[in-house]
Amino acid sequence: MQESGDFLVCGIIGYVGKKRAIPVIIEGLETLEYRGYDSAGLAYLNQQNELKIIKEKGNIIELRKILDFNEESNIGIGHTRWATHGIPSKVNSHPHHVGNITLVHNGIIENYEELKKHELLKDYKFISSTDTEVVCALINSLYNKKKDLLKALEEANKVLIGSYALGILLDNDLAHIYIIKKDSPLIVGIGKNENFIASDVPAILKHTKNYILLNDNDIGIISKNDFKIYNKGKIVKKEILEFEWDLEASMKNGYEHFMLKEIYEQPKVVKQIINEYIKDNELINLPDLTKYKRIDIVGCGSAYHAGLIAKHLFEEYADTEINVAIASEYRYTKNFLDKDSLLIVISQSGETADTLASLRLVKEKGIDTLAIVNVVGSSIAREAKEVLYIKAGPEIAVATTKAYTAQVLLLSLLAFKTGIDKKLITSSDKTKVINEYNSLNKIIEEILEHCDECEKIAKKIYKHEDIFFLGRKVDYAITMEGSLKLKEISYIHSESYPSGELKHGTIALINKNTPVISVITDESIALKTISNIKETKARDSYSIILSSINMDNNKECYDELISIPKVHPLIEPILPVIYLQLIAYYVAKFNGCDIDKPRNLAKSVTVE
Ligand code: F6R
Repeated sequence: MQESGDFLVCGIIGYVGKKRAIPVIIEGLETLEYRGYDSAGLAYLNQQNELKIIKEKGNIIELRKILDFNEESNIGIGHTRWATHGIPSKVNSHPHHVGNITLVHNGIIENYEELKKHELLKDYKFISSTDTEVVCALINSLYNKKKDLLKALEEANKVLIGSYALGILLDNDLAHIYIIKKDSPLIVGIGKNENFIASDVPAILKHTKNYILLNDNDIGIISKNDFKIYNKGKIVKKEILEFEWDLEASMKNGYEHFMLKEIYEQPKVVKQIINEYIKDNELINLPDLTKYKRIDIVGCGSAYHAGLIAKHLFEEYADTEINVAIASEYRYTKNFLDKDSLLIVISQSGETADTLASLRLVKEKGIDTLAIVNVVGSSIAREAKEVLYIKAGPEIAVATTKAYTAQVLLLSLLAFKTGIDKKLITSSDKTKVINEYNSLNKIIEEILEHCDECEKIAKKIYKHEDIFFLGRKVDYAITMEGSLKLKEISYIHSESYPSGELKHGTIALINKNTPVISVITDESIALKTISNIKETKARDSYSIILSSINMDNNKECYDELISIPKVHPLIEPILPVIYLQLIAYYVAKFNGCDIDKPRNLAKSVTVE
């Protein structure tokens, strides 16, 4: 169901039929919460033909609390939001209403700022900070001119740039939902005496398995017994399809777990970030960090690991020293930041208590702060002086995968930009590296298409009680993430060690067949790590090496070898983790673990 450009951001449902619309819409929205959950709302026309719009910040439970489920209504539209423009708030949430038009929107309008100055909109006073209100006002003006909503939608389609799936109610029209779709998913569900619109099939599965797919630029009018779809003014015939998955499978887009789905979303996330931060072979939308004499990076868990990778990249390619700390330690430790310093905080959720506390502590002293965050409008995003969004879309599995990769990529771009600003990177190197960033999504796609070896390796090691990881420098930081991923979802004891450190004690734990997973990407220390691997092989370890370096001369060092594509070292740390995520996933799967909701863990850690 997913299309290119769609990051499962925001969910839409609409209903017209004989049932009560409110419960149908709310239950539908609940199945779409994996597409976004920072605010929700619905609009319906009641039997007195009055339009009601009810919205609330937070997830759908909050919206449920303020609804009258007994109100009679047979037509309505609903939305669950994942903020892209404007913080999550009641006023920014959908549906939006202007004049005769009420609508829900999935997608991003790229030219919404320009459109605000459009002849038709110049007298309109915007109340939200969303791109959606601009679409709503535009369609309303066009409707006032044309007196025909389908014609107004045709006109709007000529002016709007970006992606949009819209579900629209027209004042006083109790019989129809109007739709338009471009580069954002939308289907029409076909029932008996009832029809639906939805951004994804799970929303309607309770009622029907029959649906039609819409193409870009399709414009439609849906009533309870009929639907008409037009493209370029001509009516188009649509085949009614039957959906084959059950509700749960369809929410995961056919993947067995959200974690696997999110691992496979990584090429799209990478592309989204590159589109946001690189344009015409130049880095854009990234701050200048050269003025800072000291930079600290703080995060928890995987976010901390992303910070460790950044340390290596900044030091190596931007000649900038970075102090990385675990947030729960940092907040209670003396820090040496002053007015020439910057604190970078990293957090997927933007709500992690220790990371937020570290941010507040530093901000209180008037020191600059920069947040790298996924959830738009989260506490950390709001409170930091500057925020960069990682654009990974909602992450549902507790163990982070795509958000971690997005954090590392964004930090890598920041290190690269700082190196350029400091004139440490030549213009030919710059072009070369930018080309590699531009093809990174394809490289990850390739990896994901040919990664059967991860499952095979997992099968060989999943019964072990201890699994060790080894690496040096940046490779050590990479293995820390691999080890965390493995232990948190498979419950197998695992440790990651700087490879030279193992012999200072921990090597005592290596015995026959103990799995030792090593990462070797840094050529300068490859031979050192290889000698340390040999030390474990001498104790009969089961050695698995992930390497971007030719290992032909070191066949005695490994039982399993995964060859990683060679890319520029600024980008390289992103790749091994993809394999380690998959190994962890399959080890957990073979052990029958609850992969998306591992025991004792929560997605957002809002307590100390
Ligand atoms: C590991 C994991 C956690 C988070 C950590 C920080 O897979 O998900 O270690 O990385 O709890 O969370 P955020 O990034 O939301 O601050």
